[in-house]
Amino acid sequence: MQVLITGGAGFIGSHLVDLLMEKGYKVRVIDNLSYGRLENLKKWLDDRNLEFIKGDLRDISKLSEAMKGVDIVYHLAANPEVRLGEQDPRNIFELNVLITYNVLEAMKANNVKYLAYASSSTVYGEAKVMPTPEDYSPLEPISVYGGAKLASEATISGFVHTFHLSATIFRLANIVGSRSRHGVIYDFIRKLRANSKKLEILGDGTQKKSYLHISDTVEAMYYLTEDTIRRGVEYEVYNIGSEDNITVIDIAKIVSEEMGLSPEIYTTGGVDGGRGWRGDVKYMLLDIKKAKSKGWSPKINTSEGAVKRAVKELLDEVS
Ligand SMILES: NC(=O)c1ccc[n+]([C@@H]2O[C@H](COP(=O)([O-])OP(=O)(O)OC[C@H]3O[C@@H](n4cnc5c(N)ncnc54)[C@H](O)[C@@H]3O)[C@@H](O)[C@H]2O)c1
Repeated sequence: MQVLITGGAGFIGSHLVDLLMEKGYKVRVIDNLSYGRLENLKKWLDDRNLEFIKGDLRDISKLSEAMKGVDIVYHLAANPEVRLGEQDPRNIFELNVLITYNVLEAMKANNVKYLAYASSSTVYGEAKVMPTPEDYSPLEPISVYGGAKLASEATISGFVHTFHLSATIFRLANIVGSRSRHGVIYDFIRKLRANSKKLEILGDGTQKKSYLHISDTVEAMYYLTEDTIRRGVEYEVYNIGSEDNITVIDIAKIVSEEMGLSPEIYTTGGVDGGRGWRGDVKYMLLDIKKAKSKGWSPKINTSEGAVKRAVKELLDEVS
């Protein structure tokens, strides 16, 4: 099986490369290295089952070339910075919706049938049901990023049903672990390395969300995509997260403790009722019963466990 991973030099993508290479797949990566790093793939760069293409998904001819002979596409390339949506919404639109459309068009042109897509819990906006199941409605994202992820899902659904493709959509919680270069844990470690006496929290610190370790995330993406293909289903949507959630203040305490520090932890107070930034969802917990019913479940099943493991991993990597 030939797999194409877009954004495969990034955080989640490179861990997926590791898993699929270990399973014996032929893996091709296309990444423009805007955020991703070749170093994330260094274990495989001399392996003939890995092919790396430096290319931008806005370049349709490059993308079409990357699609040749591919059986399954894992589409992860994006700008994943939710916060950026306020300053540069066009960037978020192009690097989420537009490139997803390009991927679909290139799949159709090259007769590639199977797609797995990294969507996000942000499509739910401020859900009134917790834990939130996949069939929750109305889907009303509160960030440009969440809107772009939902628009991508809808575009994929339209293509799948019109052109008889098959897609598995993953609405991911906050994913943490080694090689991550954005998000709250990375931010806290960098801040504490710069000043070990004080730690600033964006927002009022009571934001409470679900965190999942990267090892469980890529297992879910691999296992459930294969399951969709095996069952011959056209379109499946899965929530992927851990079984509980944790506040930002508790994460700040865990990071400080793991670093052997006791900084003064203070909050900025935030915007719009304590959010870290406009569009920051305050409470998120995904109902993962559907994924569990298919045989996947997180091995690190608490947010605290995932965060602790991620802090240990990142402390070795972040200067
Ligand atoms: N990390 C999380 O907590 C999280 C949560 C929910 C959803 N997601 C989604 O998962 C996917 C992967 O996220 P990540 O955390 O690994 O981010 P990341 O930034 O580490 O990886 C994204 C990769 O895409 C590449 N890329 C960006 N624009 C590109 C373009 N135009 N052409 C080619 N390559 C391009 C980047 O260089 C990078 O390597 C994204 O779609 C993101 O929205 C992530």
